[in-house]
Amino acid sequence: MKKLALSLFCLASMSFAVEYDAVRGEMLSLSCANCHGTNGKSTTTIPVIAGLDKNYMYQKLLDYKAGKSVGDTQMMQKHTKGFTDEELEQLSYYFSKVK
Ligand code: HEC
Repeated sequence: MKKLALSLFCLASMSFAVEYDAVRGEMLSLSCANCHGTNGKSTTTIPVIAGLDKNYMYQKLLDYKAGKSVGDTQMMQKHTKGFTDEELEQLSYYFSKVK
């Protein structure tokens, strides 16, 4: 029983690693606006990131940072290196909540 509780706890803490902070999320998101548009609603060939699934986006950002995903321009690899994993998760929360 103890083991089960512990593994449930681990699962829960994996999907909610950081507490969402809307103000911080918005601040961090400003550095994405030049390329991805205001609130991620890009009107150029750069992908729209508004409303992306939070977990998909967080994983994608971690992959860019780790160099597992490159992209055509390699801009994301450069950009994600300046953020901690916690900040990347805040960003993912923020953009997933944009309507
Ligand atoms: C210098 C321009 C630039 C900046 C700044 C930038 N991005 Fe990107 N981003 C791109 C490009 C271009 C792509 C598409 C992949 C490629 O071609 O390299 C991309 C792709 C992505 C993707 C993948 C989209 C998908 O549908 O899979 C995510 C998520 C993303 N960016 C998030 C962010 C976040 C969050 C920030 C701010 C912290 C940010 N980007 C800042 C240019 C940028």
